[in-house]
Order: sequence, then C-alpha cells, then structure tokens
Amino acid sequence: MGITLTINGIRTSVEPGTTVLEAAQELGIRIPTLCHDPALSSFSACRMCVVEVAGMRNLPAACALEAAEGMVVETESPAVVEARRTILELLLASHPADCLTCDKSGECLLQDYAYQYQVRGGNLSGEVHDFPLDDTNPYIVRDNNKCILCGKCVRACAEIRGLHILNFSNRGFNTKVTTAFDEPLADSDCVFCQACVAVCPVGALMSRELVGRGRRWEMQKEEVTCTFCDSGCRFWVYRRKTPAGKGGQQFNAAGATGGAGGAGAAASAGAAGIAGATGTKSGPVVAVVPKSPGPGRPLCLKGRLGLELIYNPEVPARPVVRKDGQLVEVSWEEALGLAPLLDRLLSRPGAI
Ligand code: SF4
Ligand code: SF4
Ligand code: SF4
Ligand code: FES
Repeated sequence: MGITLTINGIRTSVEPGTTVLEAAQELGIRIPTLCHDPALSSFSACRMCVVEVAGMRNLPAACALEAAEGMVVETESPAVVEARRTILELLLASHPADCLTCDKSGECLLQDYAYQYQVRGGNLSGEVHDFPLDDTNPYIVRDNNKCILCGKCVRACAEIRGLHILNFSNRGFNTKVTTAFDEPLADSDCVFCQACVAVCPVGALMSRELVGRGRRWEMQKEEVTCTFCDSGCRFWVYRRKTPAGKGGQQFNAAGATGGAGGAGAAASAGAAGIAGATGTKSGPVVAVVPKSPGPGRPLCLKGRLGLELIYNPEVPARPVVRKDGQLVEVSWEEALGLAPLLDRLLSRPGAI
C-alpha cells in the first residue's frame, strides 16, 4: 500500500521505502543536494537537503528520511533556507575564492547553490587549506583545496569501480580525501576511469581534458553511449560553441594546471594543452568525459579514449609538448605521460 504525505502543500502517494528527497523529485520539487547520488549508497554528510517536517524538532536530511504516512514537509521554509545558508557559509569559509578562473565554474553545484541562496562567503574567517595540487597524471587534476568532503568520489570508486583508491584521512579541519599513503594518483592503483570525477560536485576532481580549455558556457554537451562492450557506459562529448579555429585562441596551455613546474608542466602542455600549443586540434570537440556512473557501468579508460578518437577526428599526427619554452614533437606515450602507467601495469602479475 502506498504512503501518503504532503510536500509543500501537495499531497502525494509513494511506495514504502521512498525517501522524502525521492518523493519530492517525483513531484518535480528540487531539493539541493551535495553528497547524494542515486547510484551511490546514502552518506548524508552535507546536510544541504534538510527539510522541515511538522512535529519534528530538528531539520532532517531529506536524502536519508523515509516518507511516512501523514508526513507534512516543507522544503523551502525560512528555517530550512537559513540552515542551508549557514551550511554554505561554512563550506565557503575554507574554500578558495577561485570561481573566476576555476574550470568547474558554470557546472559547480557549490557555486549554483551559493547563487541560489545568495551566499557570498567571506562572513567567516579562519584557517584555510593549502594542499598541493595532484597534477602528476595525464587524466585527472585533483585539488583538495576545493574538496567539500561530500565523499562521492570515495563511494564511486568503491561501489561503482570496485576499487578503494580514495578514502578519508585525518580528522576535523584536517580531514581530506586521499590515496593510500597520500601518494599522487599516478602512484596509486587508480585506473583513471574518472568515475570519481564524474560525481564530484565541485572543482576538486577535474578531467584534465577540460582544464584550461575554455569556459563551460562556451561549450555544449552531447550525451553518447559507448559501444565497445555491452555495459553501455554514458559519456558527455563537450563541443565548443564557437566556430572551429576560433576556440583555440582561448586555450591556456602554459597555465592550464595552475602553474605546476617541471615534468608536471610538460605533462600539462602535453595532455591538456596539446591542442592549444599546436592549434591543430581546435575542432568542435573539446573533451569526452564520463557521465555519472551507475551499477554495471564500469567506465573504462578504453571506452573514453576510444570515444575520443571516434568523436575527435582532428587528432594531430604527432603531439608536441613545450620544453624549455620550445614546442617539441614527442611520442604519444610521452605527451600523454603514459609511460610510467604502462610500465606499472605491465609489471603486474598476469600482465601480458
Ligand atoms: S569549485 Fe566551484 S565554488 Fe569552488 S572555485 Fe571552483 S567554481 Fe568556484
Ligand atoms: S579514476 Fe577510477 S579508479 Fe581512480 S580514483 Fe577515480 S574512481 Fe577510483
Ligand atoms: S573530491 Fe569531490 S567528490 Fe570527492 S569528497 Fe571532495 S568534493 Fe566530494
Ligand atoms: S544530500 Fe542529503 S545530506 Fe547531503
């Protein structure tokens, strides 16, 4: 038998076990969430989804609250709005004021909610993080300073990918998401499927292909399904809205990854900025990145790179990277920084 409840004055009936968040979504009522993903287990850490329920003293999290018979819920009451504003202020208190140059800007949930609830940040002062950028691999740029500890990446890696590359370490203010022994992703057993990137609501985990390649509102997204196996993983193909050739001027090859030096900078120029450096890849496709994963959708690297080759026919014959200020032709392995990864994979037991 269905459960009847009222949300924002609208009576509805849902199946037992349905959460208030799901019941609201069925009605088309949008409750903000940061740590919730329908493909992942419930975590209920961010509290952005709090709602007011008649008869309850506190504001429960809608993503974890099961609908009950006769429940009366308000999703945007003054108390709820005040609680969300406080949550956002606390998050922004230790968040870099980086939206002007952040590559996630325009697709960032923290930015969206700050706008929705008109929270500017800066009301609270205190210590801020200064974590180093993990910029040592060709696929993912990890900036823990922007992490809001929603835990989606940790759960995606464990529950979707079946790996446990990422987890929380430390306590309190020093809590961070990291790999075992705090190694860079390149030195971990990460397979660079980007399931974690696909679920990250902010700019803490970024597909390197999108770093320094233009603003999100200059691009349009097309959903495609990978056909390399029967898992049917879904990907976004980002295309530049401007005509081919013009967009290349907006690339930021040199500073694409925040100015990391040495080998990191060479890898940045190679992986993220090849197109900008040469102008040969300034076609309409900017990047192919995974869409939010789901059970049975492993999001493998082969699928992503294969789709990139299919959708981006303008891959230059030879890549170039910037060395000592000069653009130098190198192998694809060197340009993409694949050699250490291949060595590591081939050295594993059972590797062919
Ligand atoms: S992650 Fe979002 S809120 Fe943070 S700097 Fe980037 S766009 Fe701004
Ligand atoms: S890229 Fe894949 S394997 Fe690596 S940490 Fe993210 S989810 Fe885990
Ligand atoms: S890296 Fe992104 S997905 Fe992972 S906990 Fe931080 S904000 Fe959440
Ligand atoms: S979305 Fe409900 S607590 Fe984070």
